[in-house]
Amino acid sequence: MFKSVPIFTPQNVQSVKKIIIAIDGFSSCGKSTLAKALAKALNYGFVDSGAMYRAVTLYLIEHGISIQDIAAIEEALTKIQIRFHAGSMGNRTHLNGRDVEDKIRTMEVSDLVSPVAAIPIVRRAMVQQQQEMGAEKGIVMDGRDIGTVVFPSAELKIFVTADPQVRAQRRFLELQQKGQEVPFEEVRKNLAERDHIDSTRADSPLRQAEDALVLDNTDLNQEQQLQVALDWAKERMEVQVL
Ligand code: DC
Repeated sequence: MFKSVPIFTPQNVQSVKKIIIAIDGFSSCGKSTLAKALAKALNYGFVDSGAMYRAVTLYLIEHGISIQDIAAIEEALTKIQIRFHAGSMGNRTHLNGRDVEDKIRTMEVSDLVSPVAAIPIVRRAMVQQQQEMGAEKGIVMDGRDIGTVVFPSAELKIFVTADPQVRAQRRFLELQQKGQEVPFEEVRKNLAERDHIDSTRADSPLRQAEDALVLDNTDLNQEQQLQVALDWAKERMEVQVL
């Protein structure tokens, strides 16, 4: 049995330390879902770092910039401003003041984002911004290199895994719910390709940090995986719930 999610309030918590929670893993294994839920339960900030690479990708597509044209990408990076805004429809990614949350989740962007995220100047720019966002701690960030490169000293590192077939099924359903009719096989292939590019690229490949805790959620529902992660977080926050 899993306990219900505790609510931390100043009245029932003693000696809470603000920490950084880094969540990494392959595509569509539930990292962002977990990160969002953890941030909500702990009243922490949440950053979906993949959304930042997606926003850069969208910018390049919309401006007809080739991913081979490093000089144009370098120039583009000086003009790209990415922000997250919490609203009634959840956390929304804004690119230069425009809500692009739905656009960055399309297959057009998914097909190009891994090559874009493999470009060192793109990574350098995103990592710098991510480190600034975590300077005050009290943040949950998910991605591929958060525990290894962005926050190597994060107090809690979680490496999320799930069976590839289950991941493809989850992403397929997610796209269907958003009205995007993409064949299952195309979704499965896109995930496999992204996994391959993300874990074999030269710059900051996806890998499990040595001190990361592995969370395999193949057979866990969202509430169950949250409870596992919350227990780990509480240990590191030195929380005493009265
Ligand atoms: O988590 P996601 O599927 O939205 O990520 C989109 C792409 O961005 C993914 O193919 C890998 C890349 N990415 C990365 O290289 N480093 C991160 N910290 C986050 C995402």
